[in-house]
Amino acid sequence: MALINKAIFPVAGLGTRFLPATKAQPKEMLPVVDKPLIQYAVEEAYAAGIRQMIFVNGRNKRAIPDHFDTAFELETELEAAGKKELLALVHSIKPDDMECIYIRQPKALGLGHAVLCAQCVVVNEPFAVLLADDLMVGKPPVLKQMVDQFSEWQASILAVQEVPAEHTKRYGIVAGSAISDRLMDLTHMVEKPAPEDAPSRLGVAGRYILTPGVFREIATQPRGVGGEIQLTDGIAALMRREKVFAFRYDGKRYDCGSKEGFLQANVELALAHPELGASFREYLKALEI
Ligand code: UTP
Repeated sequence: MALINKAIFPVAGLGTRFLPATKAQPKEMLPVVDKPLIQYAVEEAYAAGIRQMIFVNGRNKRAIPDHFDTAFELETELEAAGKKELLALVHSIKPDDMECIYIRQPKALGLGHAVLCAQCVVVNEPFAVLLADDLMVGKPPVLKQMVDQFSEWQASILAVQEVPAEHTKRYGIVAGSAISDRLMDLTHMVEKPAPEDAPSRLGVAGRYILTPGVFREIATQPRGVGGEIQLTDGIAALMRREKVFAFRYDGKRYDCGSKEGFLQANVELALAHPELGASFREYLKALEI
């Protein structure tokens, strides 16, 4: 039985909605409270049992590898100062049994293209894709819920959530037949449809488990919406050959690719933070908004 041991993190987008913050760093390095978005996503993959993390990097390629690399100077300073807790915190970013692999996407040709760039590492295994700008909070973590579903079905699984009708234009929208209250056997999928063209209100969130057959489908699709090579088009084609399921995860998603979602994540995670939560709550109350 196939297991999921590899995760792809496409981090080569231009992040134009977050300019100027993303001029010289990927948006996945923006911190929510005290941790960059990419670290939340890597921790989620690790908690799902995944140990090989594959980053598809773009032009701002240094910040993410640096974040997961040894920081020799910093660690020496912390050690000399006896700051053991901070040293442990820095070490915990990359556990010893976790491997990081970096691939370059030479041009931001779309999410499908970014995933295809990782084919040479994934080869013939099922794998996960995590879009770190979708910050997921769930218990168990959302990707773990999906890996558990994969163990049962051994087929591609897309994380979905119900979205307001006026937001269908922001998502890949799925359609199919319900297997249970959380699982749907998909028949088709449309990228960013207008509300009147949307086949349902279930929008794909940034977590996928895919079988390697999707690579061939992405590679043979013409350019889709916005002239980009779309992952949605590749998955829609895969549905004609293999079963693909949509899974309504149990948890909350923050769209940190948008300023509003990013601010909401910061406020809610700050309120839940063990050290900051209480004083931050008092601060918000005092604002009397
Ligand atoms: P988005 O659709 O959010 O695009 O990408 P973007 O360029 O990052 O951001 P905006 O819209 O300009 O503000 C979704 C995910 O796919 C990755 C992004 O890094 C993000 O994680 N991506 C997108 C790539 O890795 N390569 C691409 O060519 C496009």
